[in-house]
Amino acid sequence: MPLSLLNKKIIISAGASGIGWATAKICLSRGAYVYLCDINIKSLNKIKKHPLNNKRLFSYECDASDEYEVSNFFNQVLKKTKKIDALINNVGVAGPTGTIEKLTSDDWEQTLKINVISHFYFTKLAIQMLKKNKGGSIVNISSGAGIMGFPLRSPYAASKWAVIGVTKTLAMELGKYKIRANAICPGTIKGNRMVRVIKDKAKFLKVPKKLVEKDFVSMASMNCWISEEDIGKMCSFLISSDGEKISGQVIPVDGNATRMD
Ligand SMILES: NC(=O)c1ccc[n+]([C@@H]2O[C@H](COP(=O)([O-])OP(=O)(O)OC[C@H]3O[C@@H](n4cnc5c(N)ncnc54)[C@H](O)[C@@H]3O)[C@@H](O)[C@H]2O)c1
Repeated sequence: MPLSLLNKKIIISAGASGIGWATAKICLSRGAYVYLCDINIKSLNKIKKHPLNNKRLFSYECDASDEYEVSNFFNQVLKKTKKIDALINNVGVAGPTGTIEKLTSDDWEQTLKINVISHFYFTKLAIQMLKKNKGGSIVNISSGAGIMGFPLRSPYAASKWAVIGVTKTLAMELGKYKIRANAICPGTIKGNRMVRVIKDKAKFLKVPKKLVEKDFVSMASMNCWISEEDIGKMCSFLISSDGEKISGQVIPVDGNATRMD
């Protein structure tokens, strides 16, 4: 029997493409209501054509790194529902590629602002709606780079370790309200972001893109790409009643890339 999210109300940041949209579609197919936001108007316009648009799918334009815009987004959601069952803090950028001597403080500030501080904006407002619901789930999207070092991507690695620190703290602060918090660490996802990351790394190292791609895929002992849907299915599991006793955990979905060789 497929896992049910019947009538669960779920907020997803940066949900109009990539992992966020794959997750939204899985949640919708399992009966949930999805409230998503994104900065990309083109992607938002595309998903407005979804058959469940304005029925169980509601989408809004919002820059997740702007506290005022996030607060406006929540005001829009509050017009539809006072309670939610889950928040998926999905927003995150790859940040710059380069050795630490080559990076600027702007590179660092921008990556941390989007990948960490924006999660704070969403979480702070979502907690009130989760408490009204008398419990629920916060899923923070970290990365394999939140468990290991990531050469040439120091701001990204720092931001994703921070996401895990916040997740574990939230799980401790919110357990008494039956609000759970977990982090998912995706591996190398087959999608647009990895196309950009591979291109930047190949350019920086002056090697063919195929070689960088092979390196990324072979990081997983299963020697595979991870799909956006693989992450959506783990989000769905954590939000569902099947995950109701899981909190404070860091869960790699990566074909076993986070290991010692
Ligand atoms: N793709 C991977 O290989 C990979 C691996 C590990 C972790 N992750 C993490 O998974 C999450 C999603 O990654 P993805 O690959 O789907 O991302 P992506 O780069 O494909 O972007 C997804 C969406 O984020 C939106 N977005 C970007 N900045 C925004 C902002 N400031 N406000 C609102 N929306 C914004 C984009 O418009 C886009 O629709 C991120 O946190 C990322 O760090 C991804």
